[in-house]
Amino acid sequence: MRFLWFALGTLAASATASSGNSTTNKGLRIQHGFETILVQPFGYDGIRVRAWPFRPPSGREISFIYDPPLEGPEDGQAHGMSFDTASIGNKSEELRNGNIVDNGTETLLTNEYAPLKSINPRYYSWSGPGSEFEAEFSFSTTPDEQVYGTGTQQDHLINKKGSVIDLVNFNSHIPAPVFMSNKGYSFIWNMASTGRMEFGPLRNRFTSDAATVVDYVIVASKPGDYDTIQQRLSALTGRAPVPPDWSLGYIQSKLRYENQTEVVSLAKEFQSRNIPVSLIVIDYMSWAHEGDWALDPALWPDVASMAQQVKNLTNAEMMASLWPDVGDDSVNYLDMMAQGFLSATRSGPGTTDSWNGSYVRNYDATNPEARRFLWNTLKKNYYDKGIKNFWIDQADGGALGEAYENNGQSTYVESIPFPLPDALYAAGTQKSVGKLYPWAHQQAIEEGFRNTTGTKTGAPCDHISLSRSGYIGSQRWCSMIWSGDTTSVWETLSEQIASGLSAAATGWGWWTLDAGGFQVDPTVWWSGNIDTAEYRELYLRWFQWATFLPFMRTHGSRACNFQDAYTCANEPWSYGAENTPTLVSYIHLRYQLAKYLQAIFQQFHQTGRMIMRPLYMDFGTSDPRVSEWTRRNINATTQQYMFGPRLLVAPVTLPNVTEWSVYLPQPRGESSRPWTHWWTNQTFEGGQYVNISAPVDQIPLFHLGSRADIFDGKVFS
Ligand SMILES: *[C@@H]1O[C@H](CO)[C@@H](O)[C@H](O)[C@H]1NC(C)=O
Ligand SMILES: *[C@@H]1O[C@H](CO)[C@@H](O)[C@H](O)[C@H]1NC(C)=O
Ligand SMILES: *[C@@H]1O[C@H](CO)[C@@H](O)[C@H](O)[C@H]1NC(C)=O
Ligand SMILES: *[C@@H]1O[C@H](CO)[C@@H](O)[C@H](O)[C@H]1NC(C)=O
Ligand SMILES: *[C@@H]1O[C@H](CO)[C@@H](O)[C@H](O)[C@H]1NC(C)=O
Ligand SMILES: *[C@@H]1O[C@H](CO)[C@@H](O)[C@H](O)[C@H]1NC(C)=O
Ligand SMILES: *[C@@H]1O[C@H](CO)[C@@H](O)[C@H](O)[C@H]1NC(C)=O
Ligand SMILES: *[C@@H]1O[C@H](CO)[C@@H](O)[C@H](O)[C@H]1NC(C)=O
Ligand SMILES: *[C@@H]1O[C@H](CO)[C@@H](O)[C@H](O)[C@H]1NC(C)=O
Ligand SMILES: *[C@@H]1O[C@H](CO)[C@@H](O)[C@H](O)[C@H]1NC(C)=O
Ligand SMILES: *[C@@H]1O[C@H](CO)[C@@H](O)[C@H](O)[C@H]1NC(C)=O
Repeated sequence: MRFLWFALGTLAASATASSGNSTTNKGLRIQHGFETILVQPFGYDGIRVRAWPFRPPSGREISFIYDPPLEGPEDGQAHGMSFDTASIGNKSEELRNGNIVDNGTETLLTNEYAPLKSINPRYYSWSGPGSEFEAEFSFSTTPDEQVYGTGTQQDHLINKKGSVIDLVNFNSHIPAPVFMSNKGYSFIWNMASTGRMEFGPLRNRFTSDAATVVDYVIVASKPGDYDTIQQRLSALTGRAPVPPDWSLGYIQSKLRYENQTEVVSLAKEFQSRNIPVSLIVIDYMSWAHEGDWALDPALWPDVASMAQQVKNLTNAEMMASLWPDVGDDSVNYLDMMAQGFLSATRSGPGTTDSWNGSYVRNYDATNPEARRFLWNTLKKNYYDKGIKNFWIDQADGGALGEAYENNGQSTYVESIPFPLPDALYAAGTQKSVGKLYPWAHQQAIEEGFRNTTGTKTGAPCDHISLSRSGYIGSQRWCSMIWSGDTTSVWETLSEQIASGLSAAATGWGWWTLDAGGFQVDPTVWWSGNIDTAEYRELYLRWFQWATFLPFMRTHGSRACNFQDAYTCANEPWSYGAENTPTLVSYIHLRYQLAKYLQAIFQQFHQTGRMIMRPLYMDFGTSDPRVSEWTRRNINATTQQYMFGPRLLVAPVTLPNVTEWSVYLPQPRGESSRPWTHWWTNQTFEGGQYVNISAPVDQIPLFHLGSRADIFDGKVFS
């Protein structure tokens, strides 16, 4: 029998997941001095723990997990705050819940970290009036444990062992306290508060800046069986719906199409060049004032006609950007202020940020009425006129999501020595519920879609949103997450691969990025400049990689030498006539992969089986090198991945390359099925590095099985 043996270190109680579907009891409440702990069986092989000092929670606290989970044993599950065994911690209690392969061994996966005379593994402190406390919870780990997930950072790491990660959102940093362990369990810190995650050699520690109850879940699985872990995790945090077929095509965006005439000409250009496009995006500054949530009629005189023309010309849908902030010159300001729909700050002037010289307040995404106000405004001004998809930019919460003052507009003051204003929302403060903000903002658009189309969350999506941030379980909405405002240099391209693989391990399958990078790096003379050979090469490499992401999307603020424009071009034909056929060929390849994409999104919907797959997911048990190199974050594992079950993608991340070294892992029990190089059909056995030719029009790409099956989407039989 293999146990998830999870012991509450300072109390005589242990919770285990073991074989068999029945649980020994339906919840254990231990009251011990001032503190109470509730341990419950949760889903398959899972245990939920809540702990609080002094005041009991209501049971209606903000939560990112389903109770009961989407899948789990028929009986024996506790719901809400229920329990059937109470103790004061003076005798040993045991709780079992599990369905783990029975092989006669017993393994400690983790427990509360309580070495002799150390700080208590559950540590609370108070720093002021009110019922909130700070909490630090410590769990044991071993130096060889590997930790995957934790949301996204920009750090080249897929194994986060050794990392300390602030639970504070910024542009391009979306920390989320969910991880999978190579030991065969997974952990969710189900807290809306800001705080920290620490992955030390012997101790993993999670902290909360302000809480009324501490809540976490541990779920066990067979070590190395990541599909099962993801199935278990997504049964708790949410399954993704199926995206609309059109959204799997090519998404055209830049900073920025400025007016109606420009957008219609863009559509005409796609039509006359016969290049397919599925979504055309309007970026920010398209409104008259921050928080109007309407296109400026001076620039967009007839939105409905524009959307119709775009549709007629290209069959593309449209998406528009919205920011969460409302300036005091917005048509919505007084109304929202009067109704309490704007967030304020706990101290200071009450405004949460500034933009273009005026103070702004973010709308309060945690207030359901404010969400409805936002959606009703968007519906009237965009949706009803044919722009039905929304880009929720600057969605990080607190401020506008930048780690510096006033969006860097001040010459002298670029950063301030605190992370984010302590905003005050209907649901609480930034410290206590700040991690809810982006999630609730995605929820606003989701609820709007569902209300308008008469469908329920989980049903196939008719429309989609694009968000710069998210949180535990964000995959349950019709919403993509992208990697934020990246720089247009090689280093950043390579960083995005590990970032996407960590997003995957967190459960976020609908991930994308700005192909080409978002912004010019001022220290690199060619960065983002479409008229330089250097940037064109980077763009080609980045764009070809984007073909093998869940969503294929270009975006960015480009520079140029030969255009008299406020913002330079970013279309498939903007990178030199010699490169257009290559860019267009990848767009065509993307549409050829439609059935494959549909198949892998369908699987993700049904079981949580991940789309972008770090190599450890498929080869961690069949190829010892994969596991060892993942531990060390070696390039072969941080810069290569499986896209669905059949395609191995190894993006070129360096300039001036004509050859690329790719590690082909040893597949599980299928050594007879070799790897086929996409461009030459040359086949190779797994378990070796190969050097392949990689001219600038060929992304290093290998497949398992026949190409016909891939194009037919017959890949799960
Ligand atoms: C536990 O329940 C699952 C789902 O109903 C079933 O597939 C599995 O066989 C059961 N395992 C045991 C040991 O009863
Ligand atoms: C634990 O405490 C309870 C309540 O005081 C008491 O009834 C029980 O006998 C104690 N059990 C043990 C094992 O000491
Ligand atoms: C049981 O499973 C564990 C974990 O997968 C493995 O390390 C161990 O070798 C197995 N033991 C037996 C007897 O098969
Ligand atoms: C629309 O934007 C384009 C590109 O910046 C510009 O050249 C043109 O003058 C604008 N037209 C209108 C009507 O504003
Ligand atoms: C920024 O402010 C200036 C001056 O008030 C105004 O002319 C301009 O339109 C504003 N830009 C945006 C994007 O709001
Ligand atoms: C779009 O095409 C339809 C059908 O051909 C036509 O009735 C309509 O006038 C066109 N609309 C625009 C804005 O071009
Ligand atoms: C969606 O409809 C529900 C039920 O009428 C309502 O409570 C909610 O506020 C609506 N949400 C949005 C964003 O429109
Ligand atoms: C790993 O990749 C990065 C960039 O993609 C490169 O700079 C670095 O040299 C590579 N490391 C090794 C050991 O090849
Ligand atoms: C790439 O090659 C070109 C021409 O051979 C050279 O000028 C350039 O410096 C090289 N770039 C890098 C980054 O090595
Ligand atoms: C590789 O095989 C596919 C069929 O699987 C074929 O369409 C393609 O032309 C072949 N490529 C080369 C270079 O032979
Ligand atoms: C691939 O090329 C590199 C650089 O030329 C070389 O060091 C390496 O040995 C080659 N690897 C294989 C497997 O041929």
